[in-house]
Amino acid sequence: MSTLVITGTQWGDEGKCKIVDYLAQQADTVVRFQGGSNAGHTVTVNNEEYKLRLLPSGILYKGTKCIIGNGVVVDPQCILEEMDAMTARGIDISGIRISNRAHVVMPYHKIIDELSDEARAFHKIGTTKRGIGPCYMDRDDRIGIRMCDLIDDYEFERRVWQILPQKNEMIMRIYRHEPVSFSAIVAEYKGYAERLRPYVCDTIPLLNDEIDAGHKVLFEGAQATMLDIDYGTYPYVTASHPVSGGVSVGTGVAPKKIDKVIGVVKAYCTRVGEGPFPTEQLNEIGEKLRNNGHEYGTVTGRPRRTGWLDAYVVKYAGLISGIDYMAVTRLDILDDFDEIKMCVGYKFNGQMLNEMPASLKVLAAVEPVYETFDGWKTDTSKIRNYDDLPENAKKYLQRMAEVTNIELAIVSVGPNRDQTIVIKENLF
Ligand code: GDP
Ligand code: IMO
Ligand code: MG
Repeated sequence: MSTLVITGTQWGDEGKCKIVDYLAQQADTVVRFQGGSNAGHTVTVNNEEYKLRLLPSGILYKGTKCIIGNGVVVDPQCILEEMDAMTARGIDISGIRISNRAHVVMPYHKIIDELSDEARAFHKIGTTKRGIGPCYMDRDDRIGIRMCDLIDDYEFERRVWQILPQKNEMIMRIYRHEPVSFSAIVAEYKGYAERLRPYVCDTIPLLNDEIDAGHKVLFEGAQATMLDIDYGTYPYVTASHPVSGGVSVGTGVAPKKIDKVIGVVKAYCTRVGEGPFPTEQLNEIGEKLRNNGHEYGTVTGRPRRTGWLDAYVVKYAGLISGIDYMAVTRLDILDDFDEIKMCVGYKFNGQMLNEMPASLKVLAAVEPVYETFDGWKTDTSKIRNYDDLPENAKKYLQRMAEVTNIELAIVSVGPNRDQTIVIKENLF
């Protein structure tokens, strides 16, 4: 048995897919288990960029199976665009399989996502407007449409006929938007169904057979712990479970079949959208992090909020997901800083906290406790061995491992596949 979960430890965009792509060299199967096209994953191979939203990052390896589990919400238009873009670049997409239980993102989900977030005058979330929250809402309200319905023409029409009046009522009466046309949806989605049908199947036996046969399976998280619907900074979160526990419910693979969890940690911190961010730097340090790191959202193009590494958040992610190893990314972005800070804990009313505050009022008021490190002022992007890293960089990484109590396995010093320092070999 050899299964590895890759999960984000902060607020997303940690470079999860760079790590997935790196480890996928050894994987037989790569699986997405939650989220949808709100994910923006960029893989760079030989300086060529591949942007992925729904497709697992294993797609770039010929022969690797790429599974989209039942926990994912699938926008058919988006996935077909991605599949076409991959085919146009000569990439084999025959290994894609989509769970017949995955829910389908409908046009009204995207409309409602945008309009409802605009209407949240006091707690706008700043969603990606991809229809993710409304699609999961319909799943939980038991009025969702799944992939097995999409590929069944009669059932699809019947379901849309039942659901659409209620959605249009909401769209027209609450949001004063024009209604969505039944015949337009049916015509558009029938076209998608036709093309997606060969890829849709029951992925549960497929995946469990793979694992039972001893094949190597990589579970690719989207978003991150602090965006988890239960464990994140609620309500400023996404609608799924990016933590490792999401793997079992999002794929039908039992928890006991999960071997190891790797947490991806950006060497500093970013966040897109609203919500508390204790180590945010609304100053020239934040600007420098944004400029050095080109920190702009892949999905929405929004400038990302930036700040120092919050090791207290990473430690919390370690607890929630049972993280065995850490993969630290983007160390190179800190190369030219004179001084670097790391938050090692929070103080509230003068007292050190022992847990992650649930209350956003408390989280917004905590005082991050920082340790300061001398910068290394050296280009790390060409370094390939841990021992060759500057001493100050090693001190920073070692302290990160100490504070979080998570072993360091990988350090990434650039977007390319080969810009990777492996400390712990044979993670599979
Ligand atoms: P994800 O959503 O967690 O997969 O991360 P994104 O793809 O949204 O953002 C990470 C960005 O950083 C991508 O453009 C990656 O190509 C890039 N990246 C990943 N690791 C490194 C690294 O170590 N250094 C640098 N400079 N860029 C990296
Ligand atoms: P990856 O996989 C960073 C954020 C949005 C918003 C909140 C809710 O690339 O790390 P949603 O559209 O999901 O309902 O938006 O979550 N968000 C992300 N931020 N990276 C992501 O994915 C994100 N996916 C959603 O900005 O604040
Ligand atoms: Mg991203």
